[in-house]
Amino acid sequence: MNKYYWIVTYGCQMNVHESEKIAGILRSCGYTEGTCQEKADIIVFNTCCIRENAENHAYGNIGALKKLKKQRRDLIIAVGGCMTQQVGAAEKLKKKFPFVDIVFGTHNLSSFGQMIEKKLSTKKTIVDIWDKESAVDHEDISYRTSYPNAWVNIMYGCNNFCSYCIVPYVRGRERSRDSEDIIKEVNTLLDSGYKEITLLGQNVNSYGNDRGECTFPQLLQKICSRKEKFRLRFMTSNPKDFGEELVRVIAENEQICNLVHLPVQAGSDRILKLMNRKYTAKEYLEKVEMLRKYVPDCQLTTDIMVGFPTETEEDFQQTLSLVKEANFSTAFTFVYSKRSGTVAATMDGQISEEIKKDRIMRLVDLVNQQTRRLSATYEGRTIEILCEDFDDKRGQYLGRDEYGRMGYFQADRNLIGEFVKIKIDKTSGVSLEGTLAE
Ligand code: 5AD
Ligand code: SF4
Repeated sequence: MNKYYWIVTYGCQMNVHESEKIAGILRSCGYTEGTCQEKADIIVFNTCCIRENAENHAYGNIGALKKLKKQRRDLIIAVGGCMTQQVGAAEKLKKKFPFVDIVFGTHNLSSFGQMIEKKLSTKKTIVDIWDKESAVDHEDISYRTSYPNAWVNIMYGCNNFCSYCIVPYVRGRERSRDSEDIIKEVNTLLDSGYKEITLLGQNVNSYGNDRGECTFPQLLQKICSRKEKFRLRFMTSNPKDFGEELVRVIAENEQICNLVHLPVQAGSDRILKLMNRKYTAKEYLEKVEMLRKYVPDCQLTTDIMVGFPTETEEDFQQTLSLVKEANFSTAFTFVYSKRSGTVAATMDGQISEEIKKDRIMRLVDLVNQQTRRLSATYEGRTIEILCEDFDDKRGQYLGRDEYGRMGYFQADRNLIGEFVKIKIDKTSGVSLEGTLAE
């Protein structure tokens, strides 16, 4: 009889990729992907704790399964992801949701299969969280969900301790993967027809610092020695380590997309200092200028936070000015969320919800204006799209250009996995609509 799994993922692309690894483990245990949560034999929550609302979301959805678990005692509910790595989180989960069967961490993902077996044979609740210092990163990725794009972890953890951020506490110190292993993985993906590779790490610019054998620009250069057509992306860069050598490699290699995600977080030097970001607004803008000098058609995206402790209206105005000056093509905008255990959580001058809400609305408004302005420049132009899916509702294929902008178009044959040219007829917000040009 078939056994089905259902995975609920919270958080960023890194977590989406981790869910692929979880899916691979579940498949090796004999499960196949289910069509809905209610019919699954195992439900896995891959959680995120970077902001409180992602965490509350997960708690709410786990709690909502109480009834289903009562009706179906054999259903296995497992909770993993970085939320479980927080001090005291496993105990809290056990107390709040006694019906959860397995609580596992990010550092012992490799043993998840054994945990399921143990659960099935002993019927006991399993809580197995490893200390972040004893991490064994799970590299075995046997199942992918995002053809023609593939994510590849190049490093784990973070050493930066930005004062608001929980990541270094739950993901541990920086650990770079062996460059030969990464190159082997990328080559296998390209050989099997993947067309876009995204290298993942919390701070890809410090890739290799802990190994001393290959820097990030050198890694990119090695990957680009494959001369066939493919796209190479990476995220996330930290402005403090974003240097000229990397920019030169981007400029010189056709395969590297001319899109850089460079989180700025704030435009006020006072706030940047309190955030422990180790650069000023001027230094950030100088890096943007350097990037645009070497790669004139480069687009830039960013992460920005509002409502950091003590942020004044003047600080916020400086963020708005920087957004205009850097001319981001789009930005991920966040309201500061107090994370227990971080330095910022103990700071005086926490900002009221009302002010945070007002600032995020004004920021989103500005970012949207810039995104729309850039979208409008696409009208009438012919661009190259990597076709990645078919949208049933719209009856159209879709894909992204090198800058990550989504384009929709009609075609009478399956073009998924192919580079196609489309002429843009219409733009709306961040997405484009066009006609197949060739
Ligand atoms: N509150 C709000 N946003 C946060 N981020 C990280 N920590 C927090 C927090 N405590 C944002 C940053 C980071 C992105 C991944 O998440 O902008 O770049
Ligand atoms: Fe968090 Fe800063 Fe590390 Fe990014 S660089 S993961 S924001 S501590």
